[in-house]
Amino acid sequence: MPRSATVPNLPPSIAPARPEAEKRTLGQYFTPPELADFIAGFFTRNLRNWRLIDAGAGAGALTLATVKHALEQRPRPTTFHVSAYEIDPVAIVLLRQTLDHCAALCAAEGVVFSFDLRTEDFIEHTLGSMEQNLFAPEAKTFNAAIANPPYRKLSTGSPQHRRLCAAGIEASNLYSAFLSLVSRLLDAEGELAAIVPRSFCNGPYFRAFRRDFLSRMAFRRLHVFGSRNTVFSAEAV
Ligand SMILES: C[S@@+](CC[C@H](N)C(=O)[O-])C[C@H]1O[C@@H](n2cnc3c(N)ncnc32)[C@H](O)[C@@H]1O
Repeated sequence: MPRSATVPNLPPSIAPARPEAEKRTLGQYFTPPELADFIAGFFTRNLRNWRLIDAGAGAGALTLATVKHALEQRPRPTTFHVSAYEIDPVAIVLLRQTLDHCAALCAAEGVVFSFDLRTEDFIEHTLGSMEQNLFAPEAKTFNAAIANPPYRKLSTGSPQHRRLCAAGIEASNLYSAFLSLVSRLLDAEGELAAIVPRSFCNGPYFRAFRRDFLSRMAFRRLHVFGSRNTVFSAEAV
């Protein structure tokens, strides 16, 4: 049977319309589908059992692109599991629809799909799990991660900044906090494909992040976009 007969379509838009001020507070800028496909193409491994984390998943564009990427593998994967974190109730409604769509895509190809939709703060939850298990603080649960994390400055001394510092994570922006935590959740060969501002590359402001991140991760491929206004043309990034 052709795939289109069994897989329901996604709603025409998977980006919720929110006022700019609310978007800024949430650090919310959605990845257009073509860019999501491009980023998912950074994964290099043919995994049998995908264990993906999408922290700050929005409406799920990056998860969907990774599922489509995995379904192009030969042989096809056996299972695909995703843990998706999102705090915005408006985005969560769309994320749920996207996850259902991923399940249908996988079912049509005989791949067992499961998801853990975590409607909670990724930073709080991950720090909490690390604190609960002091003897194994880095739970290496995932073999792949994809992210376009929220961007917002973290002021020194704010409760979130203090909690991260207490866990040994010096983060000046939400995006570096997300990447530091994600890097702790990946297994040894785990791959991370992420869209981030280039600010982390230079200067003392992100030095602690670079040291921490590069102590467990290595760059395999970098793509520098000419202008974020072009790439995220639908959003006032
Ligand atoms: C830059 S947007 C990207 C969304 C999606 N990854 C994409 O590429 O389209 C970041 C998302 O992270 C969510 N977010 C912000 N703070 C969060 C937190 N502490 N925990 C989980 N999600 C968060 C925002 O609501 C937003 O949807």
